[in-house]
Amino acid sequence: MSPSSPGPTLIPIASPSLEVLKQRRQRLSDVFTDPVLLWSGNASARNFPANVYPFRANSHFLYFVGYPLQNAVVYLEGGRLTLYMDNPSAASALWHGPEPEREAIAHHIGASAAFPLADLPLRAQDAATVLAQDGPTQQHQGSVLGRSVVAAPQAEGLDRELAIAISQIRLCHDAAGLEEMRHAAAVTVKAHQAGMRATPTASHESDVRAAMERVILAQNMTTAYSSIVTVQGEVLHNNHYHHRLSPGDLLLADVGAETASGWAADITRTWPVSGTFSPSQRSLYAIVLAAHDACIAEIKPGVEYREIHLLAAQIMAEGLVDLGILRGNPMDLVEQDAHALFFPHGVGHLLGLDVHDMEDLGDMAGYAPGRQRSDRFGLSYLRLDRPLQPNMVVTIEPGFYQVPGILQNPDWRSRYQTLVNWDRLAEFADVRGIRIEDDVRVTETGHEVLTAALPTAIADIEALMNG
Ligand code: GLY
Ligand code: MN
Ligand code: MN
Repeated sequence: MSPSSPGPTLIPIASPSLEVLKQRRQRLSDVFTDPVLLWSGNASARNFPANVYPFRANSHFLYFVGYPLQNAVVYLEGGRLTLYMDNPSAASALWHGPEPEREAIAHHIGASAAFPLADLPLRAQDAATVLAQDGPTQQHQGSVLGRSVVAAPQAEGLDRELAIAISQIRLCHDAAGLEEMRHAAAVTVKAHQAGMRATPTASHESDVRAAMERVILAQNMTTAYSSIVTVQGEVLHNNHYHHRLSPGDLLLADVGAETASGWAADITRTWPVSGTFSPSQRSLYAIVLAAHDACIAEIKPGVEYREIHLLAAQIMAEGLVDLGILRGNPMDLVEQDAHALFFPHGVGHLLGLDVHDMEDLGDMAGYAPGRQRSDRFGLSYLRLDRPLQPNMVVTIEPGFYQVPGILQNPDWRSRYQTLVNWDRLAEFADVRGIRIEDDVRVTETGHEVLTAALPTAIADIEALMNG
């Protein structure tokens, strides 16, 4: 490097201000007084060590450190932060370019001191931690702490208390987190608009996926999860994109952007490949949309999210009875989980740095203390069972699906034989899957739909596609 070359710089990401980071660290120290170690994690090899999957830092680390460092550890005590990481090697500079030294990074993230990783065991004995996401980092955690570190749901003692403390802090977002989520939401809205516009001239799912992800990548952002862009909407998390688009198909797109500092959006829309919903698609879409709208309308502090889920189930059951697909009293049908034949998942989940926020902690974040998952068919995939609080962000994503594994399962079929009009259901064969998903912030008195700029109404979607 010539004497006049600028030194290595940090990646320009909109990380929270040091003031925000210090507030987050102080909040943790207020509720958890023991020392804490957080690992950022390492990139995982795709096939050999030099060829890795894109690195994504651990979300708990990102929340308190604000910068996506790789192979770094922070020690937090009394609101003060110490950074442990190695300086870049000459080989790393050769292959990856010059990168900032430890001291410069420490200054950037507001750490009061910085040391090489090898110094870590000197301070680590009594610290609590949260299990990192990749195997090599998990091994490092075990060797540094001299004990086995397990996933939060199985953790005991201080590690368990730390997971509970972090989950409580991350449950309701601060202004900086919300600003990031608004940014992720705005880009995601544009991605979905691009997907709708691209569909009439697209030949395969992959064409629409490319049009959507292009919008996200062009913002130097990534996707928050593997995009779902599929004409097989009944496959809930379908990650294949090879199917040809046919005019009678519905295309289900569940695509969300992630900001450079790690905050997610999570939107699903379902639109007709031809640009016009068929009558059968229209009828079922209207039911899912009614459930979606009614659930969002109910969101405010104090409301139990489980009740929102049951409201979605009730509206789905009512609509399916009206259409002649289900038989009986809607309330009784929900009690018998008949709606779950077509709506087998929960109505949504927490959203934040993770698309299913803090699911690495099992149900510690999603379920209020003392509550446990039900094993009922209609409730077992409910990921959130808490009273809503201001500045939680949740998704609302009811759906209708014809899943062969459910509808052709002999046990389910005999259990629900008389409650379903199977002949009538056959008239809706051009609806494999519909999901409508938005991201909703709980406000002090009600709610704000972060993704409201993307239409849900049939006429608006058709206009967007054809206009
Ligand atoms: N994108 C995954 C989900 O909606 O849960
Ligand atoms: Mn979701
Ligand atoms: Mn989604």
